[in-house]
Amino acid sequence: MKIGNIEIENNLILAPMAGVTDIAFRELCKHFGAGLTVTEMVSVKALLFKNKKTQLLLETFLGEKPCAVQIFGHCADDFERVLKSGVLDKFDIIDINMGCPAPKIVKNGDGSALLKNFSLAREIVETCVKSTNKPVTVKLRKGFYENDDVLVLFAKMIEGAGASAITIHPRTKSQNYSGKIDINDIKKVKESVKIPVIGNGDVVDIKSYENMLKTGCDSVMIGRRAVGCPEIFSILSGKNIDLTKTEIIKLHLDILKKYYDEKFIAKVFIRHAFSYASFEEGAVEKRKKLAFCKTLSEMEEVLFEK
Ligand SMILES: Cc1cc2nc3c(=O)[nH]c(=O)nc-3n(C[C@H](O)[C@H](O)[C@H](O)COP(=O)(O)O)c2cc1C
Repeated sequence: MKIGNIEIENNLILAPMAGVTDIAFRELCKHFGAGLTVTEMVSVKALLFKNKKTQLLLETFLGEKPCAVQIFGHCADDFERVLKSGVLDKFDIIDINMGCPAPKIVKNGDGSALLKNFSLAREIVETCVKSTNKPVTVKLRKGFYENDDVLVLFAKMIEGAGASAITIHPRTKSQNYSGKIDINDIKKVKESVKIPVIGNGDVVDIKSYENMLKTGCDSVMIGRRAVGCPEIFSILSGKNIDLTKTEIIKLHLDILKKYYDEKFIAKVFIRHAFSYASFEEGAVEKRKKLAFCKTLSEMEEVLFEK
């Protein structure tokens, strides 16, 4: 699998997830066999303002190669200034978010709002392609409104604007995460463009992964299942890593401790703790107890209790 001139070890990609795919979680998923990792979405405006919290999102781990950064915004000029500033130079791939359905993003005209504005979306892709020598990719949903289906037209437009790959989550913005996806939507795009197509949505095991591959997509991107189950990447890649859930949680915490202090880890880890607990015996009880945890050691006590 190649995106532009960037070789990817396998066809498994960890999805960008705000508040989830921090440096430590990406390192963990890479360890289990993710061929490509992507940062959480990063605001181009915030980068221009040199926002400290935003700059932290750009940290990468040793060996995170290749690595993609995902950026979002609604003003082509902002994208150009960020790309020309050099702040993203360490990344191999620049991904543009045209799928985020979160109200605070959409109300600014960012993320999935761009699906309603073909000419602006085209201008942003063209500008990014001109402003960097790295491959530019786009991640999008099927459309904006409930029954919208702009996918094939939009995908062709993005290809024409110079993008090197496209990721498709075949739900509309209005659907958010509800309803079943129709993987035929991905198949239709694959048959309409020549650039690599990355299929995304509801891949949770070998069966759903193989089903996704039936679309002809070049790669599969996995999001929510990896949370609480980063070993999904070894299961799908065939990488032989035999760790118990407890060992996986300990490994995740060891990696987090390389980068952050305990107070910060307690904040970022709680979401993962809930997800890990869901895969364990007595999940309901453990999740109830986790809801009262304030410190990392309290969380560890719940997760590791026999
Ligand atoms: C907590 C959370 C945060 C997300 N943040 C982003 C993001 O920053 N950028 C993005 O393009 N998609 C984001 N997504 C969407 C995922 O990348 C992915 O498209 C979606 O979850 C569907 O894939 P899945 O069924 O494998 O989870 C997010 C999803 C979740 C659950």
